Amino acid sequence: MAFYDASKIETLYDQATLDARNRELGAQITADYKGKGDLVLVGVLRGSFPFIADLCRYIDLPVEVDFLGLSSYGDRTETSGIVRMTQDLSEPIKGKHVLVVEDIVDTGLTMKYLLANLHTREPASVRVATLLHKPDGMRVHVDLDYVGFTIPDRFVVGYGLDFSRKLRNLPFIGVVTNSDLIYPNTP
Ligand code: IMP
Repeated sequence: MAFYDASKIETLYDQATLDARNRELGAQITADYKGKGDLVLVGVLRGSFPFIADLCRYIDLPVEVDFLGLSSYGDRTETSGIVRMTQDLSEPIKGKHVLVVEDIVDTGLTMKYLLANLHTREPASVRVATLLHKPDGMRVHVDLDYVGFTIPDRFVVGYGLDFSRKLRNLPFIGVVTNSDLIYPNTP
């Protein structure tokens, strides 16, 4: 891809590395949920869409896939802690095993809000799979059952993660080293 200046984005995890980790997580989830009953994967929009798409194909079980949308207020590189639901699930989750699929857990505030909300709907269980976790940023405790990669407290982009609503379509995860002139090739 050439719409951005590659010298401004340092690759942290390339496509092959992400794929290999998704395969491992999928195998682990398959083993853990085999024979346990209905499992629904709940993707958190917008950031989780590439991760859930790839991960679900490595889960060898008859899963349901549903989505909900969450957004923190403001256009930010730092979380505001105030979360708003922009889109709800399509189906009830009562009595089902729920696996929340998230792109990144930083402060944990978004996940804490979401888990409290989901628990009121009486699912059989709720677990969390996050591709990335920044333990240094944690402000509240949340149990993370499946973690793709633990990363330092740096702002990452790509593979679903945005920088001012863009860069979600990068096929790898990178760190923006210089936010000026990332898109020199676009009009
Ligand atoms: P938390 O509430 O601080 O855990 O933040 C969770 C949300 O913040 C994620 O779902 C992302 O949308 C966003 N976020 C946190 N860190 C990053 C990052 O490094 N890059 C892009 N988005 C991030």
